[in-house]
Amino acid sequence: MKTQRFALVVTVIALCAACTSRTPVKSIENLKKAIKGETWVYSKYTMYSKVAQDEGYPNIAKAFSAVAAAELVHCKNHNATLVKLGEKEIAVTPTEEAKSGTTAENLKAAIEGELFEDIVMYAEFIATAQVEKSPDAIQTFTMASDAEKVHVKLFSSILENLTANGNDSKVASTWYNCPECGKVYGSIENMQSCGKTPSSSFEQF
Ligand SMILES: [Fe+2]
Ligand SMILES: [Fe+2]
Repeated sequence: MKTQRFALVVTVIALCAACTSRTPVKSIENLKKAIKGETWVYSKYTMYSKVAQDEGYPNIAKAFSAVAAAELVHCKNHNATLVKLGEKEIAVTPTEEAKSGTTAENLKAAIEGELFEDIVMYAEFIATAQVEKSPDAIQTFTMASDAEKVHVKLFSSILENLTANGNDSKVASTWYNCPECGKVYGSIENMQSCGKTPSSSFEQF
């Protein structure tokens, strides 16, 4: 009888723990997917940067390098969130991205990819995190999504510039990446710090 009571108490405690536990299971999966995706985008932009350099567009090459670094900021923030949620960090292992075209084609591909991340992928991840009531996941996904919006504008204006001039002489020659959120700026005047990092500490390319 005592054994049965003990087993019952243990079962009730386990069930209560399960009820009150708010592990955001899907958001944890989404954080892992986002880290893999961002790592892939980092590799892609690193290759696009090399292509731009080879085609004689050094300013565009720097812009791609700055945004590549921004995607690593997103990996870092997502990993920190995983750890907060009791998970292990995911290894960020860049790979060689085989597919690339001309710089103009690469800019178009970059715009499409950034739009997908912002409008489809992160929108879905944020909605899921809201359902799972995970403020940490909402915060890191929103921060990345906001930065992707900036990346879309940046690549769109570079593409316009390249199309109009046939070269990158009117593209900014120095690019700045916010190490906290991954927003990238081509001019010091427009830089906005999203947190505690002063704009003077932005990564420069
Ligand atoms: Fe990103
Ligand atoms: Fe991006």
